[in-house]
Parts: sequence; structure tokens; C-alpha cells
Amino acid sequence: MADHWEEVQKKLDTIHEKQLFRETKVYQGIDFCSNDYMGLTSNPRMLEYFQSRKNIDPFGSTASRLVRGNRVSMDQFESEFARFVEGEAALLVSTGFTANFGLLDSIAAPDCFVFTDRLNHASILDGIRISGAQKKYYNHLDLNHLRSLLEKVESEDPGHKKKRIVVTETLFSMDGDSPDLKTLLGLKKEFGFVLVLDEAHALGIYGPSGKGLVFRDLSLSEIQSIDYRVYTLGKSLGLEGGIIVTKKIGRDHLVNVMRSFIFSTAPLPMISEFALFALSLIRSMDKERHTLLSLARELMNSLEQNGFVLTHSTSHIIPLLLTTEKEALFYANSLQGIGLDVRAIRPPTVSTPRLRISLNAKLKLNDIQVLIEELIRVREKWNSL
Ligand SMILES: Cc1ncc(COP(=O)(O)O)c(C=O)c1O
Repeated sequence: MADHWEEVQKKLDTIHEKQLFRETKVYQGIDFCSNDYMGLTSNPRMLEYFQSRKNIDPFGSTASRLVRGNRVSMDQFESEFARFVEGEAALLVSTGFTANFGLLDSIAAPDCFVFTDRLNHASILDGIRISGAQKKYYNHLDLNHLRSLLEKVESEDPGHKKKRIVVTETLFSMDGDSPDLKTLLGLKKEFGFVLVLDEAHALGIYGPSGKGLVFRDLSLSEIQSIDYRVYTLGKSLGLEGGIIVTKKIGRDHLVNVMRSFIFSTAPLPMISEFALFALSLIRSMDKERHTLLSLARELMNSLEQNGFVLTHSTSHIIPLLLTTEKEALFYANSLQGIGLDVRAIRPPTVSTPRLRISLNAKLKLNDIQVLIEELIRVREKWNSL
């Protein structure tokens, strides 16, 4: 039998050889990489609120939400959040990963088809895998390809004996682009599938009051026909957690069958208390949303004018494509060395190595200009090696 630790060492050697070694580092420098898009983790009002809460429950929730882990603030946050995004009900879980993974596992099964964008987040893909459903990948954002896959399944199973589920992110975290939601809702009407949308990177930034991309692109009746919407508290809300918005019976179903909810300790009680406050702040941050999107336009235009190759981003996530893992690491390390926290994203997370530049509302125009100048300098250095 092969020695386990020898096997581990071999795997690590291969990862190193491919320039794919990762390590946890404590952050430093100006933030061009986090998902704290609204800057809430250092918002003075959040800090003030934190310090003013004398009776906060500082420790763990002690058990799962179905045992002794549930709190009034968790129920309140769910109701408030559902109201915010005009849904019937919501379920709070410990992370966005848990939400996607548990949801897909709960609603899919070996006798159903799940159509997924090829670039969907690992939590979605793993949820589908664990459910045993028949996975149908469609090309990234290609709803014509989705249509042709749906038609094929329609001809094989015209009586809809097998359930169809379509799942996509509304804003792709590693590419910064979005599907055409109107067309997707049109397909839902035509083919009658269950629709799951992941608004992780859109909440707080897009739509009126930061309600998300669906509110920017769809009518209320279309929004209410979406079966499940998944959000995370770990990005614009500056906290940690996941929340699934669905029908009341959808929530009851998940509470009874979703293993990652049932068999896991409830979130820290203070998270839902702060989440209520974070949500109230987010609603009123129109000025910050405007700043963020104008910084994004500025950065995108300047990078393109300076000959950098970008993805087809339409958002505040602006990935800069590079050719090799080594090049991506060179750029990231050089920028980090001068206090600009930009990270390299490499396979298997993405197929093309890149710098994932994500902006937040606390950045200033000057930060963007410094980043562009330094990127040009790093490129010169790389080209002269
Ligand atoms: C699209 C998407 N969904 C879900 C998640 C998982 O959310 P969380 O970080 O709260 O676990 C992520 C994380 O980056 C994500 O990008």
C-alpha cells in the first residue's frame, strides 16, 4: 500500500512544479481583491453599532437551529431579508457555500436533470454532484446552448417525468460578467424548469437599494417566479453566512431535508444581529454604489486603453487575463510588494490565469490611478525578463 504522506508529498511537488501552490497569508495593502464591496467591514457606523451593543450574545449558538441554536434575531433577519428582496420566506445558514451545496442536494436527485453554466461556483457544482442528478453543462452565458440542451431533453422526456433545474450565478465571481436574465426567464416560461439564481456578488451593489441584479433586469412578477435565490452575507454585507429566498413551502422543505442545515451548528447569534444592521446600511448606500461603479468604469477603460486584456466584465469585478501561472504570480507578488493587494487566480479555479481585480466603495480615484501606473510598470519588468 502506498504511504499516505509520500502520496501527499508527491501531490504537493506537482502543485509546486505547475506554479499552483497556494498558502494562507495575512493581508496587507490596499484592498483590490476582497468581496467587501461596500466596505462594511470597516464602516464606522458598523463599528459604532458593534461597540454599542452591550447585551450581545458573543459566543457560539450551541447547537443546530433545529435544536437550541435558533435565536429571535435569526428569525427577524430572515423575515427582514425576505421582505427586502420581495420573497415569501428565507432560510439563514452558516455560509453561502452551505446554502448552494445544501440547496442543490435537497432539490435535485438522480432522476432529474440539472443544467448548469460551466463556470458556476464550486458550491453549486458540488451540490449537483452530491445529489446524483444528471448534470448538463452549458457554455458560459450561452443561453442558446442552454436552449438546445433543454430541447434535447424535451424530445427525450416530453411528459416531464424528470424534473429540470437550471442554476446560474447572476454575476460571475471570476469573470465579472452576467447572463441575460430576461432571456433566461423567457426560457423558464417556455420549458418549465425550476430556476436557482445565485446573487452572491450582486447583492448590495446592483438594483434599487442594492437588492441585486434581478431587480435591475427583471419585473417584480418575473422575480417572484424565480424558485430559489441564494445570497451570501460574506460579501457586501461584510459578515458571514448564506441565505436562501424561496416560497414558504420551499423553506419548510429545506428545513426538513437540507443536511448541511440540519446537521450543522447554527451561525454565531451576533451575526444575525449585525446582519439586520448591515442590511439597513446597505439600503441607503446609493452614493457608494455610484462611486464603485464609476471607479469600475474608469479602471476598465484605462486598462483597455493601455492594452491589457480583460474578460468581458460588466461589473466591479475586473479580471485581467495573463498567459501563464508564473506571469500571474509575478504580477501579484510585485503589486503586493508595493502595498497593492491584488491576487493571482490560477487553475483549477479558472482555466486562464488572471489577476482578479475587485473594487470596493472605499477606494479613491487616486488608488485606481496608482494601480494602473504600477500595472504598466510590472508589465515592463515582466517583458524585460
Ligand atoms: C457565486 C458564489 N456563490 C457562493 C459562494 C460561497 O459563499 P460563502 O463565501 O458565503 O461561502 C461564493 C464564494 O465566493 C461565490 O462566489
